[in-house]
Amino acid sequence: MRDIEIVRLGTDEGERLREVRLRALRDAPDAFGSSYGREVEFPPEKWAERLASPESRWWVATRDGADVGLVCVRLEEGNKAHLLSMWVAPEARQAGVGSRLVDAAVEWARTTPAEEIGLWAVDRNHAARALYARKGFTPSGKVMALPSNPALMESHYVLSLIFRRARKEDVPAIVAMLADDPLGARREGDPNDERYLAAFERIDADPYDELIVAERDGKVVGTMQLTYLAGLSRLGAERCQIEAVRVAASTRGQGLGRKMITWAIDRARARGCAMVQLTSDKSRTDAHRFYDGLGFTASHVGYKLTLG
Ligand SMILES: CC(C)(COP(=O)(O)OP(=O)(O)OC[C@H]1O[C@@H](n2cnc3c(N)ncnc32)[C@H](O)[C@@H]1OP(=O)(O)O)[C@@H](O)C(=O)NCCC(=O)NCCS
Repeated sequence: MRDIEIVRLGTDEGERLREVRLRALRDAPDAFGSSYGREVEFPPEKWAERLASPESRWWVATRDGADVGLVCVRLEEGNKAHLLSMWVAPEARQAGVGSRLVDAAVEWARTTPAEEIGLWAVDRNHAARALYARKGFTPSGKVMALPSNPALMESHYVLSLIFRRARKEDVPAIVAMLADDPLGARREGDPNDERYLAAFERIDADPYDELIVAERDGKVVGTMQLTYLAGLSRLGAERCQIEAVRVAASTRGQGLGRKMITWAIDRARARGCAMVQLTSDKSRTDAHRFYDGLGFTASHVGYKLTLG
């Protein structure tokens, strides 16, 4: 496609924002919580105010001098960011413009204190849901009626700005964290051993298994593995097993472990899991206090039989 540019709107571009936003609302009334009828009445100051807000940023996608896309990110309380007003003009769709707008929004959110970015998408808006899924957003479990058309339901999606699925190139850093520990030091080997890579590839290919890393300033500083187990008990409920939890020694004591487990619990709940379970070596008394503090109960005795 001809060159598309993603441009941040300046504070003096209220008229430009008005034009593209009103076109979006006219074009796709059932995609947005607001309406053309409401926003067409906004005075120029309202558009200027939207751009001047330090909590918000707006970007347009332009092609040959014409604006063909829009997105906004708003920072909210509790270290959260919200992506909204996403629109691509019909003549520019399915050519990667939406993808680039999401990238610009997420990239900026990563430079702020936000730890998570959320958005709402109407359930029957398959194009939007496919775009967000492709970018790693997952349902949070929250749903509501679309304010501008309560006959439609919309669902909430989130993307963590700290936690993500591990990539192949993260494997040595993950193995180093597993080894940097009195128990791990005895059983781990060379982080570049190809057996680690083979195990990663198996986990990565399994839709019921997720190897997660925490990333800060481009560095992998935490990891855990989430496995979604099927079972017949509790009416066929799925349970989430958390394994191999590690926070890099340099990052401990800063609340990252708590955030990581809380995130895993939210993710399991949003999937519909009935339970989150884990085992922890008997010698790890600090870890036991940590899990107790997160609401886990040491209700079972775990048995292990090492095979070779
Ligand atoms: C949703 C919307 C923003 C997507 O924009 P776009 O520029 O067409 O999206 P992209 O070309 O960047 O698509 C990126 C990915 O999204 C998915 N996708 C986008 N449109 C899709 C469609 N119509 N059907 C299926 N998947 C689609 C694909 O996975 C695609 O990746 P691929 O091309 O590698 O397969 C656009 O359709 C739109 O503006 N719709 C009306 C307004 C709206 O719904 N806004 C969202 C409010 S929450």
